[in-house]
Amino acid sequence: MAGTETTDGASFWVDSTDTHKADAGYYERAASALRQLVVPRLTSNARLLDFGCGNGEYTRLLATHCREAIGIDVSAPLIDEARSSTPAGENVRWAVDERPPVGETFDVVACMGVLVCVLADTQFRQLLEHLAQCVAPGGTMVLRETLSWGEPQLVEHADYVSLYRTPLDYLQPLANAGIQLVHDEHLVTWSSDAERSNHLWLLERPA
Ligand SMILES: C[S@@+](CC[C@H](N)C(=O)[O-])C[C@H]1O[C@@H](n2cnc3c(N)ncnc32)[C@H](O)[C@@H]1O
Repeated sequence: MAGTETTDGASFWVDSTDTHKADAGYYERAASALRQLVVPRLTSNARLLDFGCGNGEYTRLLATHCREAIGIDVSAPLIDEARSSTPAGENVRWAVDERPPVGETFDVVACMGVLVCVLADTQFRQLLEHLAQCVAPGGTMVLRETLSWGEPQLVEHADYVSLYRTPLDYLQPLANAGIQLVHDEHLVTWSSDAERSNHLWLLERPA
């Protein structure tokens, strides 16, 4: 586990208005994986939490197949955009926050591209455990993250910093919380990043 405890990774995102840092094809692939792998798991009675929802595009994609959804993000401008892109009467609520709801469980908990932004290990573990607590018995967690296959890698991009942790950094705390990996979808390995790759994971809490 990396020992970076001092840099506040969320601070960049608080005022963010654009989450698309990769090429357009990547986001199409991510959406396609959600349609193929997550939508079939949703029922018309399902409740969805999308934590770190950005502008809400994926929240809406999934919410169409659910009873109700909540999208939460630390960025007020992104939540404003999500809210204004949501027709009145739709089944999605939006909230600005940097923590998931306390004491609520959901059939699907999505957290996509968010945990690499959380640099401090203590905060990372607390957030992961908190998200795990939000998964109802029999529920699904959807994580989409870039993983490092060697040591954790702290990478400074042009305007933000990411920490690419190892699969075990995610899977061990989740296993301790009763959540198991059931599907690993490799989305992309960018040519400059031979030692890391981006994945969409499906994980389950047994009923
Ligand atoms: C790379 S974007 C991904 C957005 C969206 N989930 C997607 O897949 O397109 C990362 C998002 O995580 C949000 N974020 C980062 N740290 C957060 C935190 N501690 N609490 C809530 N949101 C956070 C950012 O504001 C940003 O919208």
